[in-house]
Order: sequence, then structure tokens, then C-alpha cells
Amino acid sequence: MLKTKRGYNFGAGPAMLPEAILKKAQAELLNWQGMDMSVMEIGHRTPEFTALMQELEQNFREVLHIPQNYHVLFMSMPARTQFAMIPMNFLKPEEKAGYLVTGLWSSFAYQEALKLKKAYCIASNEGNYTKLPHPNLWQIQPDSTYIYYTPNETIHGLRVQTPPKVGNIPLIADMTSCILSEPLDVSLYGLIFAGAQKNIANAGLTVVIISDEMLQKNPHAIVPTMMDYKTQVQAHSLYATPAGFNCYIANLMLLWIKSQGGVQALASLNQEKALKLYTYLDNSSEYECLVSEENARSLTNVCFVIKKPAMEEIFLAKAKTQGLYALKGHREAGGLRASLYNAMPLSGVNALIQFMQAFAKEYL
Ligand SMILES: Cc1ncc(COP(=O)(O)O)c(C=O)c1O
Repeated sequence: MLKTKRGYNFGAGPAMLPEAILKKAQAELLNWQGMDMSVMEIGHRTPEFTALMQELEQNFREVLHIPQNYHVLFMSMPARTQFAMIPMNFLKPEEKAGYLVTGLWSSFAYQEALKLKKAYCIASNEGNYTKLPHPNLWQIQPDSTYIYYTPNETIHGLRVQTPPKVGNIPLIADMTSCILSEPLDVSLYGLIFAGAQKNIANAGLTVVIISDEMLQKNPHAIVPTMMDYKTQVQAHSLYATPAGFNCYIANLMLLWIKSQGGVQALASLNQEKALKLYTYLDNSSEYECLVSEENARSLTNVCFVIKKPAMEEIFLAKAKTQGLYALKGHREAGGLRASLYNAMPLSGVNALIQFMQAFAKEYL
């Protein structure tokens, strides 16, 4: 028999999408805008597709209050490509950039920068990514060309709540797992990027928000054409054939965010969801959140363990039978993880807590 109610996907990415978006995409799949074709079959130079890209950019600008001196780019590539593009585009041979290493994603970005150019580590808790290095220990060198950090470390459930104080040095942030989950002051940043697969759309698209000033940083950098931000700016993200379906889904997502009351309204809900789960974990004697400092806890990725780790596989199998999916932690971190992006309703968190209570009673 066909299932009528979908379960809850707690996966860190690809993540759950709002059902309304999936249904709309399903309804429009064979005939988008009366064109007798799906959006995937439409040429990217057609007026209809150009209009979609313009609407997408406009919606992004509106929802995140992006100032006019910033470009919004839609790049058909995974977020990791940015790890190389950033040093390649901005660092001259004699220059260096500072990386705040708070978890595996910032560590990967730092390693990539070191491979290509000069970079240094501002601070790191390598080997113990359950807490953040104390700001008193951060060593920001004033002659850095940019400072890079990851406000939300998806794998460890760690969050850098306040952007580092960098003075006049441009700040770059990997917001893959936190963009659109709470309001953002874009003007603090030289560049922000985010892979789509958490809060924006399906995987394979990366959104880049870059200031005009940042774009001019190293005008003569020799960078492969596709990896040069200037190429993408000049071509309005349509230099090569874009991931059109992802852009279409991203636009539906922004319309959905607006219909929910915008990022501010979603942020309140996200806080409620996260607080509920963290409070349950803190009061439980069977489960534990390894990030003990409240300010360092991720809003979107709640990582935890069962105090009897041998029960993890049974927990995951039982959860699946209740329609609670993808709760396994990242392979490098182990344990369990519940990702609570915008599309996860409060009812999903309630269902998870109820299941955890029942599981604890029966098995722990
Ligand atoms: C914070 C962060 N940065 C980068 C990435 C890499 O994304 P992609 O697989 O699109 O390269 C991820 C993926 O989960 C992530 O969470």
C-alpha cells in the first residue's frame, strides 16, 4: 500500500525539503509555465529561464537584506570547490590568510588553502571538536588578506555565535549549514558561501554572496575561468549551463521562507526546536550532548550520544520503523545527529523526543 504520510528526515544534507515544494515541483514537472516542458528541459538563455534567475536573485536579496554592493552568484558546483576558489582568487603569492579551525569543515578549507597559497591557523581545538577555542587564544595577524571561519560546524554540532572581530580585514564565512536559519548582517562579510543541500535546494548548487570590494581584491589573479568569481559575476551565473532544476527549487524555497514569515520567524522556530531537544538531552541520564557549552551549540545540527554506545545500531533501526530517518552521526564523529533545518517542523522534534523516551525506557 502506498504510504500517505512522509516521515522526518534528520539528515545533515541532503536534507529534508518542505513538502509543499516537492508537491509544487511534482505538479509542474511535465509542464513548467505552460511551456509543455519541464524546467530541466528549458534552455538557459530563454527569456523564461532568465526571468527565473532574476527572480531567484531578487528573492535572495529580499530575504537576507543583501546590500546593493554585493553580488549574488548561483554556482553549479559543490560547496567544497569554494575551499580552493577562495585562496586562488584572493591571495597574491606573498599574502596570507587566517583560518579559524573549529571542526572538520574549516579544517578541510584550511588544508586546501595551505596546498595552494599561504595560510595560518588562528586557533584550533583539533582532536577535541566538542568545544570552541577560547577567543582569548585567537591569534589574528593584522596583515592577513582575509579571515575565514565556519559559523556552523555541521559534523560536530558546534556554532561560532558571534562573527570574529577582524577590524578592516575582510571576513569570509562558510554558511553551508546555517544560511537562512537566522537573520544575517551581510555587510560584515567580504564573501559568504553556502552549499544548497541543507536550507536552500537540492545538492550541487552553491550560493555565493560577494562584495564588490572583495571582487576587486586581486584583479590579475590567474584562476581557471570557471573558478574565477569575475566570470560568474559578468555572466550573471550563466557562463556555463547552470543546474537549472536546483535554481528552480531554490526559488521555491525562498518563496516558502517568505510565506513562513521570513528568516526571523523561522529563526524563532529553529530556536524553539533546538532548545527543546537540548533541554531533553541535558535532563536525560541515557543520552548526552557532548557540546556542553550552551553558546557553542549548533542551532541546526544537534549531535549526541547514547551513554551505552552498543545500543546505537538498534536505536537507528527502531527510529527508522517510526519514520525518523538519517539520525546517524557523521562517519568521522560517530554518535548520533539530528539536523533541524528550516524544513523540519516542531512536530518532528516532538516525535524524536517521544521516540527517545520510549527507547530509553525499553532498552537503556
Ligand atoms: C559547513 C559545510 N561546508 C562544506 C560542506 C561541503 O559541501 P559539498 O558536499 O557541497 O561540497 C558541507 C557539507 O555538508 C558543510 O556542512
